[in-house]
Amino acid sequence: MDTTLRDAHQSLFATRMTTPQMMKIAAYLDKVGFFSMEVWGGATFDTALRYLNEDPWERLRLLRSVIKNTPMQMLLRGQNLVGYRPYADDVVDTFVQKSVENGIDIVRIFDALNDIRNVERSAKAVKKAGAHLQGALSYTISPVHTIKGFVEYAKRFADLGADSICIKDMAGIMSPYPCYELVAALKSEIGLPVQIHSHYTSGMSSMTYLKGVEAGASVIDCAVSTVAMGSSQSPDETMIVAFRDTEYDTGIDVRRIRPAAQLLKGIQDEIAAANPGVVAARTVDTDVLNYQIPGGMISNLRAQLTQSNNLNKLESILAEVPVVRQDLGYPPLVTPMSQIVGVQASMNVMTGQRYKMISKEVKAYIKGEYGKPAGSIDPQVQKMAIGDEPVLDARPKLPDEMQNCVEAVKPYNGSIEDALSYALYPDQAVKFFEGRAKKQS
Ligand code: CO
Repeated sequence: MDTTLRDAHQSLFATRMTTPQMMKIAAYLDKVGFFSMEVWGGATFDTALRYLNEDPWERLRLLRSVIKNTPMQMLLRGQNLVGYRPYADDVVDTFVQKSVENGIDIVRIFDALNDIRNVERSAKAVKKAGAHLQGALSYTISPVHTIKGFVEYAKRFADLGADSICIKDMAGIMSPYPCYELVAALKSEIGLPVQIHSHYTSGMSSMTYLKGVEAGASVIDCAVSTVAMGSSQSPDETMIVAFRDTEYDTGIDVRRIRPAAQLLKGIQDEIAAANPGVVAARTVDTDVLNYQIPGGMISNLRAQLTQSNNLNKLESILAEVPVVRQDLGYPPLVTPMSQIVGVQASMNVMTGQRYKMISKEVKAYIKGEYGKPAGSIDPQVQKMAIGDEPVLDARPKLPDEMQNCVEAVKPYNGSIEDALSYALYPDQAVKFFEGRAKKQS
């Protein structure tokens, strides 16, 4: 799979590639012969509306109009869709249906805590819409995360009708040999096609892909070399040539990638000029190996501490993160857990006393509002956070939201897609609709 139009620029350019820039290369990429292209979802929806003044749905339709041969893939955060909070079931159903109607063929669904209850509704909606359901497990390393546990979770996805399983190593911390074991276990116990998603961050992903493919993985996530490496994926061209003349030969002529690779150099320059400071350096981040903390999380912490003149506390906070993570039952450090754990670790260091202050998100997490972690929460921390309050044992059913959203976009001649944009990002959506109305009048 080629991630150039989604994860690569999300990881390297803060998701700032515009639709016109994508349209310069989409038709070339379509001719390469990739298994699929990841073009939508994740942070692209938010960023299009918030920073680029673009309609994410229009982007999807435009890409579909030129990507005629390659299946198009998106990333979905379960009940949180492409937002940061759980949405009502009717929003989930409609969002998935409209994503597929507008051009998505494969939907990859994940939950930060690997709690199947958070993905059930969206998974069923994908099957109902007739698209390929890819169940992703959020990969992490901890004393409570085992191959057996990951396989069990993948089985639940298979029960929901998953067409394939993805190992989502969002932090780029999966080493080659554990990857081999995990893929082999998934293949022998479930038998569905396995796709591997990793990041180059720690410098291991190409080796991890190699071992994963040897263990039976059928698809690996890579990006055009121009936008590969660093915190992005391994380069398409390198991996294609690495497997040439073996039983894993992709049959792809790497020269077909060259036009897009050349054009991306100019696109990167445009993005750097339009968004000062967003283009990330493409180095190997050894902190990821030292602390098992995702690179994005460390750079966020560093930026926040620089702003508040507390950069001298960075080392203590980095050392505190694993402590908080353990107290909270080892959540994978992916959105939103990376932010929640990072903020609490900072509070523990800044106040000079662990859990003297506890964030509202940590309290909600301990109450079970985000789902159930793989490990158990430290009883003393739980007591300090929520006292004797009960912990939720089911996902709360939210009241329907679609009708309100349809009403809210009526003054802007809104479509169902517009109502969905409004459901997820009301302020940004209204601002976009107002601008669109002005342009049309
Ligand atoms: Co990723």
